[in-house]
Amino acid sequence: MTAQEQQPGISARGTLQFVAVERAGHVATVTIQRPDKLNALNPAVLGELTAAFRDLLAPAEGNEVRAAVLTGAGKAFVAGADIAEMAAMNSIAAKRFADAGHRLGDLIETAPFPVIAAVNGFALGGGCELALACDFIYAAEGAKLGQPEVNLGVIPGFGGTQRLLRRVGPGRARELIYSGDMITAEQALSIGLVNAVFPATELLARARDTALKIASRGPLAVAAAKRVLLRGESLDLAAANELEAQAFAALFGSDDQQLGMKAFLAKSQAAFIGK
Ligand code: COA
Repeated sequence: MTAQEQQPGISARGTLQFVAVERAGHVATVTIQRPDKLNALNPAVLGELTAAFRDLLAPAEGNEVRAAVLTGAGKAFVAGADIAEMAAMNSIAAKRFADAGHRLGDLIETAPFPVIAAVNGFALGGGCELALACDFIYAAEGAKLGQPEVNLGVIPGFGGTQRLLRRVGPGRARELIYSGDMITAEQALSIGLVNAVFPATELLARARDTALKIASRGPLAVAAAKRVLLRGESLDLAAANELEAQAFAALFGSDDQQLGMKAFLAKSQAAFIGK
């Protein structure tokens, strides 16, 4: 990790216009910054977010990212895919756009560190889908979430049909997607779409506190848990349990497993090294 990469708004690929990245130890905060359009996702914003997350994945001896927070600047997390740009798309351009959204979602979902969505305001359409690609969601009081695509004559295209289904179950997902209704942060909490709701002024600090806590745990173990939780979802129970047993066993012999267990037995706190 170079000094340049640690500055907000600078990636290995050059200056970012719509995304700021801050690093504090092992925790990264990624902020989407297109507030005049409520952080709507156009190809440029999607490209910058993808570049920013790829940078966070780059190997960095001793300075690797162990947890990240994704949030938005201004009154929205993301108010959706950019409708002005989508209005002019044909099916070929729309497929390319959906593929770019899926690439970003897959990158976040398969990153070896957890990503917490800090939903500070509107998380609609592609914004809700982006939050769903994160490991879990914290929301601010007053935030609104939803999949309003049917109001525009389309359906979610960045993974919403599948990830919402898996997060809140088939009945709730169908109701939200067919109605296009926005729900409050509290309603989202009640159906398990968000994990917690905080006053807006506290949201980012609470998300970073959780990220910091996760970053203090064994990074290989957290990464293995993330991998098993994700892959296990699409396997039958026996195969998923076998995957878990193999991942559990593979951690034995790592420095972190030795450090963690020795520290417990010595009644001290392990300083994990990620090896
Ligand atoms: N795509 C493109 N531009 C968007 C946008 C989107 N998804 N969401 C908001 N904007 C733009 C608005 O066009 C407006 O631009 P302008 O100032 O140049 O006119 C600006 O962001 C502010 O939005 P505005 O609608 O004035 O804010 P509001 O507080 O009155 O309403 C929302 C907020 C979120 C209810 C409203 O913007 C909205 O419904 N957005 C679209 C949500 C949606 O359908 N998303 C799914 C897309 S697949």
